[in-house]
Amino acid sequence: MASFFKFFLTLALLVLVMGSSTNAQLSTNFYANTCKNLLPTVKSVVQSAISKEARMGASLLRLFFHDCFVNGCDGSVLLDDTSSFTGEKNANANRNSARGFQVIDNIKSAVEKACPGVVSCADILAITARDSVVILGGPSWRVKLGRRDARTASLSAANSGIPAPTSNLNQLTSRFNALGLSNKDLVALAGGHTIGQARCTSFRAHIYNETNIDASFARTRQGNCPRANGTGDNNLAPLDLQTPTCFDNNYFKNLVNRKGLLHSDQQLFNGGSTDSQVRTYSNNPSTFSSDFVAGMIKMGDISPLTGSRGEIRKNCRRVN
Ligand code: HEM
Repeated sequence: MASFFKFFLTLALLVLVMGSSTNAQLSTNFYANTCKNLLPTVKSVVQSAISKEARMGASLLRLFFHDCFVNGCDGSVLLDDTSSFTGEKNANANRNSARGFQVIDNIKSAVEKACPGVVSCADILAITARDSVVILGGPSWRVKLGRRDARTASLSAANSGIPAPTSNLNQLTSRFNALGLSNKDLVALAGGHTIGQARCTSFRAHIYNETNIDASFARTRQGNCPRANGTGDNNLAPLDLQTPTCFDNNYFKNLVNRKGLLHSDQQLFNGGSTDSQVRTYSNNPSTFSSDFVAGMIKMGDISPLTGSRGEIRKNCRRVN
């Protein structure tokens, strides 16, 4: 009886261990033998794109987030709509907003030239996100690789799975928790908003209707974002008012000063359970850096396709 019990205990433990390291298949040296020059090949294209336009680093980081939050990091965000296929590019969070697809095409062409048919678009997104952060002055990390590309995409999963800027703290934590990311990961990853831009339509309600915002900051932002819906919707403002092309901890300093641009940003410092972590990051850039890296690695582990699932797309915009 005792050994029977032991057997079940071992089995339960095994299931637990396997569950917590579901992505043991991903590894940092996945292409070591099949595409030796992968990393420098990707980096040089990312570098030249960012040299042309610094914001591109932000756009590329965001693409990886929008990929991973919809059925896992499987390159689904990159698929174009056709008459017979509906992708994710017209989801609420992506339409007139997600960008960088041409840069991903350029990277894919360079990688295909070096090692045809080997490297997935999903992995290219993961490497590109890391390179962007590094080029803009942020921390580096070794990117786990071995993801394969989806043959499907889901507009409805993108609409429901990518958090909206109108989200409150509860909605943010539940979405991150549902994907195995903790509240701590949420706050650290939200630090991605230390770079890049948002459209007026994403922050209008926050700057006109809310009181948890610095009054003079609100007035400044109102200057380029008219009150009426449908006017100036695409006018841009930096997510980090101080250094929008530098990956640093100013985003958290802004939140402490009630200068978060999005409603969802300010939710992280609004008298709730995440305030103390925001304060820590605002005072301690290296804690932010290491937690951001841990969060990015965890996010990159969300439901990858491995083994014989999915495919290695030839063109990131369409299935083979
Ligand atoms: C916590 C939930 C999040 C919400 C509600 C959110 C929402 C948004 C919104 C509304 C925009 C502006 C889009 C526009 O107006 O066109 C934006 C931009 C951006 N987001 Fe997030 N985001 C979240 C998390 C993240 C995460 C986890 C990352 C990366 C680690 C990230 C990276 C970015 C970047 C870099 C931009 C600027 C992109 C550019 O300039 O092209 N966001 N986000």
